Amino acid sequence: MSPQLRALLGLVLLVSVVAVWFGLRGGDTDVAKIGDPSQHPSVDGKGPLRLADSKECEECHPQVYAEWKGSHHEFAWRNPEPRRKDLSDNFKNKDCIPCHAPRPLIEVGWGARALERQTRRDDGVNCFTCHRYKNVVAAPHELTAAAADAPCNPVTWAPIRTMTLCAPCHDQHKVNQDWLQTRYAADGPDRKDCNDCHMPVTPGPGTKGVDRPEHRGHGFPGGHDAEFLKTSATLRARFVGPDEDWMAAVKDLTGRDDLPKLERGAPFDGKTLLLIEVKNTGVGHNLPADERHRAVDLEIQLEDRGRVVMPELRLARFRNPYRSEFDAVNPFSDHAWEVIPLDVKNENIALLTHQVRVPPEFRPVRKVYYPKSTQLVAGESRLVWMALPRFGGRVRLRLYYKLNPFLANDRAVVTNERWLDVPR
Ligand code: HEC
Ligand code: HEC
Ligand code: HEC
Ligand code: HEC
Ligand code: HEC
Repeated sequence: MSPQLRALLGLVLLVSVVAVWFGLRGGDTDVAKIGDPSQHPSVDGKGPLRLADSKECEECHPQVYAEWKGSHHEFAWRNPEPRRKDLSDNFKNKDCIPCHAPRPLIEVGWGARALERQTRRDDGVNCFTCHRYKNVVAAPHELTAAAADAPCNPVTWAPIRTMTLCAPCHDQHKVNQDWLQTRYAADGPDRKDCNDCHMPVTPGPGTKGVDRPEHRGHGFPGGHDAEFLKTSATLRARFVGPDEDWMAAVKDLTGRDDLPKLERGAPFDGKTLLLIEVKNTGVGHNLPADERHRAVDLEIQLEDRGRVVMPELRLARFRNPYRSEFDAVNPFSDHAWEVIPLDVKNENIALLTHQVRVPPEFRPVRKVYYPKSTQLVAGESRLVWMALPRFGGRVRLRLYYKLNPFLANDRAVVTNERWLDVPR
C-alpha cells in the first residue's frame, strides 16, 4: 500500500470514528474519547474490586440502593412486558438482551452500543452497568477522606454525569436526538439534561456517613410514575362566542403572539366554539417519549346535572405508532399552521373538529424522525376547536397517559383534567 493511500485510509477511519462519536456523544463537550484509556477513570493505586453484586452496595449507599431497587432499571430483565411472547418471547430473541441486562458501559466502550451480560441478569440495568470500570467505580463528585478505604474504589470521573451514559440505550427511538433539538439542551437558563428531570435532587446523602445534604435520586421516574407524568403537559380551554374576535381568543388562550391567522372554519359560523390547547410544557423530548408502547389521548365528555349526555370521545391521540400499524397516518406531518378538519367519532357520536399543530417557539423547524408520529415535541401544542351539541351542562376534558395504546381509559393515568360550564 502506498503511503498516500495509507494516509487516506487513516483519514477515512479517523473521520468515521469521529462521526460515530459525535452521533452518540449526546451533545457534551467534556466527554472522554472512545478507546483512549488515558481519558477513562484512573485505576492506578487501587486494589482489586471486591464487590460483585449490587446488593453489596446497600450497606453504605442505602438510599440510592432502595431507589434503584424500585426502578425500572432494576426491573428491566424480570419485567414481563419485554418478555411477552409477541415481543422477546422470554428473551429468546437475543437482540433484546444487551440493554435489558447490560455489561458495564465504560468498559464496553464509552458511548458505544451496550453488550449483553452473562451473570446476574435478574439485576437488569445495575450499579455496575453505569459505574464500573475495571477495578474502580466512576464517581460524580470530588470525594472525601472516607473514599480511601471504600471497597468500591471510587474515582472522580466527570463524564459519568453526561448524556453519553444514557444515549447508547435511550437513543434507539431518538430520545437523545429529540432532546438535543429542544431549549433544554441549549446553554442558558432553561438548560436541563436527562438527569435534571430523571435523577431529581433528593434529601439525604448518597453515601452513609458522608456529610452531604442531598443526592441524585436513582428511581428514574418515567412512564410508571403518575405524579411525574402530571408534569408533562398543560391543558387549557375556553369558549369563544360567535361574535368574539377569534384570533384574540386564540392568542389569549395560548399566550402566543407569533401565530399566523387561523381560519375559524365556515361550518362554525355563528356558533359558540370550544377551543382547547394541549401543550408539551414539561417534557425534555417528545411526549410520549421513546418506546412505541405509549399513547397520550385527549378526551371530551359532556354532562348535565350529573348525567352523561355525551360519553367520552377521543379528540386527539399523541403517539408514535408501531411499525405494524400500517393504516396509521399523521394528518399533520409537514402541515404546521394548516388547519385540518377532522371528523372524530365513536359508535354513537360524530363531532367535527378543526385542529392545528402549533410548532414550538424554540426552533420551530426541526427534524422529525418518524413521519407517522403525532407525538408532541417539546414546546409544541395542538389546538382543537368544535361546536358542541346544544345543551346546558358541563364539559369534562381529560388527558390520559397510557402505557400501551390498547389500554382502556380507566386503566390509564389522568395527567390533566378541566371542567367548563357551557355558556347559555
Ligand atoms: C463499606 C462501604 C461501601 C460499600 C459496600 C460500597 N461503597 Fe461506594 N462509597 C463508599 C464511600 C465511603 C464512598 C466515598 C464517598 C465520598 O467520599 O463522598 C463511596 C463512593 C461511591 C461512589 C461515588 C459517590 C459520589 O458521591 O461521588 C459511587 C458511585 C459508589 N461508591 C458506588 C458503589 C457501588 C456501585 C457499590 C456496590 C458495588 C458500592 N459503592 C459499595 C463506601 C462504600
Ligand atoms: C438499544 C437498547 C435496547 C434494546 C436492544 C432493546 N430495548 Fe427494550 N427498552 C430499552 C429502553 C431504553 C426502554 C425504556 C424506554 C421506555 O420505557 O420508553 C425499553 C423498554 C422496553 C419495553 C417497555 C417496558 C414496560 O414496562 O413498559 C418493552 C416492552 C421492551 N423494551 C421490549 C424490548 C424488546 C422486545 C426488545 C428486542 C426486540 C428490546 N426491548 C430491545 C432499550 C432497549
Ligand atoms: C444499559 C442501558 C441503559 C442505560 C445506560 C440507561 N438506561 Fe434507562 N432504561 C433502560 C431500560 C432497558 C429501561 C426499561 C426497563 C423496563 O421497563 O423493562 C430503562 C428505563 C428508563 C426510564 C423509564 C422508567 C419507567 O418507569 O418507565 C427512564 C426515565 C430512564 N431509563 C432514564 C435513564 C437515564 C436518564 C439514563 C442516563 C443516566 C439511563 N436511563 C441510562 C436502559 C438503560
Ligand atoms: C442508569 C445508570 C445508573 C445506575 C443503574 C446507577 N447509577 Fe449511580 N449514578 C448515576 C449517575 C449518572 C450519577 C451522577 C448524577 C449526577 O450527579 O449528575 C450517579 C450517582 C451516584 C452516587 C452519588 C449520588 C449523589 O448525588 O451523591 C452514588 C453513591 C451512586 N450513584 C451509587 C449507585 C449505586 C449503589 C447503584 C446501584 C444500586 C447505582 N448508583 C446505580 C447513574 C447510575
Ligand atoms: C424537562 C424534563 C425532562 C428532560 C430534560 C428529559 N426528560 Fe425524559 N421525561 C420527562 C417527562 C415529564 C416524561 C414523562 C412523559 C413522557 O413519557 O414523555 C419523560 C419520559 C421519559 C422516558 C419514558 C419512560 C417510559 O416509561 O416510557 C424516557 C425513557 C426518558 N424520558 C428518557 C430521557 C432521556 C434519555 C433524556 C435526556 C436525553 C430525557 N428523558 C430528558 C421529562 C424530561
